Amino acid sequence: MNLYKYVSDEINKKLGFVAKLETTKNRDFGDFSTNVAMVGAKTVGKNPRELANEFVPLLKELDFIADVSVAGPGFINIEIKDNFLLQNTTAPKPMKAENPLTIDMDYGAYNVAKSLHIGHLRTSIVGDTLNRMFKFLGHKTFSWNHIGDWGKPMGLVIAWIERLHPELPYFQDDFDPTKPVYYDIDPKDLDTYYPSASALAKQDPEFQARAQEIKAKFQNGHPGYFALYEKFLAISLKSMNATVQRLNILPFDYDLGERNAAQYIDEVEKILNAKHMIYESDGALCINVKRDTDNAPMPPYMWQDSRGADTYDTTDLSAVYCRKKVDNPDTIIYFTDLRQSLHFEQLFRVADMSGIYPYDKFEHIGYGTINGKDGKPFKTRDGNAAGLDDIFDIANEAVRERVAESGKKLDDETITSIALAAVKFNDLLHDVKSDYIFEPASVTSFEGRTGPYILYTAVRLNSVLKRANTQITKPEHFDLSIEERNLLIEIMDFEHMILTACDNRATDMVANYTYDLCQLVNNFYHNCPILRDDIDETTKQGRLYFAKLAFDTLSTLINLMGLKIPSEM
Ligand code: ARG
Repeated sequence: MNLYKYVSDEINKKLGFVAKLETTKNRDFGDFSTNVAMVGAKTVGKNPRELANEFVPLLKELDFIADVSVAGPGFINIEIKDNFLLQNTTAPKPMKAENPLTIDMDYGAYNVAKSLHIGHLRTSIVGDTLNRMFKFLGHKTFSWNHIGDWGKPMGLVIAWIERLHPELPYFQDDFDPTKPVYYDIDPKDLDTYYPSASALAKQDPEFQARAQEIKAKFQNGHPGYFALYEKFLAISLKSMNATVQRLNILPFDYDLGERNAAQYIDEVEKILNAKHMIYESDGALCINVKRDTDNAPMPPYMWQDSRGADTYDTTDLSAVYCRKKVDNPDTIIYFTDLRQSLHFEQLFRVADMSGIYPYDKFEHIGYGTINGKDGKPFKTRDGNAAGLDDIFDIANEAVRERVAESGKKLDDETITSIALAAVKFNDLLHDVKSDYIFEPASVTSFEGRTGPYILYTAVRLNSVLKRANTQITKPEHFDLSIEERNLLIEIMDFEHMILTACDNRATDMVANYTYDLCQLVNNFYHNCPILRDDIDETTKQGRLYFAKLAFDTLSTLINLMGLKIPSEM
């Protein structure tokens, strides 16, 4: 049950005003607070405090209300009956959206033949959690791993392989794709090709020009380059899958990116031309996206660069066209680094102007940077920019050290789940837009607002339930202690929380709620013994029931965040 909505609706119905309900942080003064008397006072022309006092007896008639009091200039504090909480608290279940939407989500978006960097962490973690949240609320989502496989890096990597193995048949213009080529790329080597090629291109204009030429030919369907690309695409897809598994994120519905979108370029160009949107400028094909109201510079959208090549802009617009055709989504959400905001603003404008997809159905969620203690983008110990795997290796190491220090013996799988939770929870905890500092030692702590603390709480509950090893049923009546009451009301707040978090795309709300819940669980655990010998059977049964509710709620949250509960900790 959505307690917040229930209470809000009942109060408004009873008093005939639409007022705002607040959940009070300090429950000593009640569970909710409403400004209904302030709202009503304006309409009937009375003093709010006076009106509030008139409302008190009316509100007391509602059978779920235990107590009502007036505070300040006319706020009304409301306390919910214990038995109402007891009878109506349930563990969260997947919901049925009132207006189910089809949502295309563009996150992950890894690049072919380029190892994943730390920037791919947030798009993956936040994108995945939001995807799970939408699904939980009953929406239909499609996740697109819009892989980067059409731009400059393709030209560079192919040019690099040409340098290494000029004898390979791929580089001939009359390459015959039906004839097998016995050439294998070592995945570890592939990772080095792009950085090497890119460094060389900076010093050697000839190589740079060759890479550009190759890119253009590749985009025009050169069979040899394409065959070679297929080879390293396979390697990259495999490593992307490994990342998906390592991160414990849902498999993507589509591993289709720029190259796939490129198939639609001609169709899109027809639309753009019919609307006379394209103009030529220094050999490039551009689209003007400026609006009179713009204060900041708004460069043109680059439909084709001056060398005749497709750009990031070209494939992104074509991808929108493709998604509209394939999924017909109600909304398209992108998760990328904040620094791509201008690109998406331009894209949304062009899509709208061309009639391909309306501006207001797009969303770009731009995330901040993960920094080290020095406030600069996080680096590994040797001073290099951290890759995505580095972050997990570092977290794994930190957890291993911590576990060793504590004298615990945990297997590798458990250590890995703790490290995963440490990194992901910490990421989700921060407002998406802001930068944050990644400190391996603090995020892996077993205490405080950390992933390990969350898992530890779940493991603890689970172990009580396992030890009790009994059928658990809801008690008819129970004298709630303050800890039990606080726990129940927090669980009842889940539905309101998840709806609000989803509306605001605020994964940090989910993480913070999870932490608050864990605090209450641990207070309950310490103050309300369950399996101790001196605890009578009724109390034990009731507390087991609360522990089970808490465990089920926590498991749902842990699942939404894509963490794994270890069997021991
Ligand atoms: N591949 C890009 C990168 O690694 C992100 C792509 C985001 N999605 C998009 N449709 N442009 O930065």
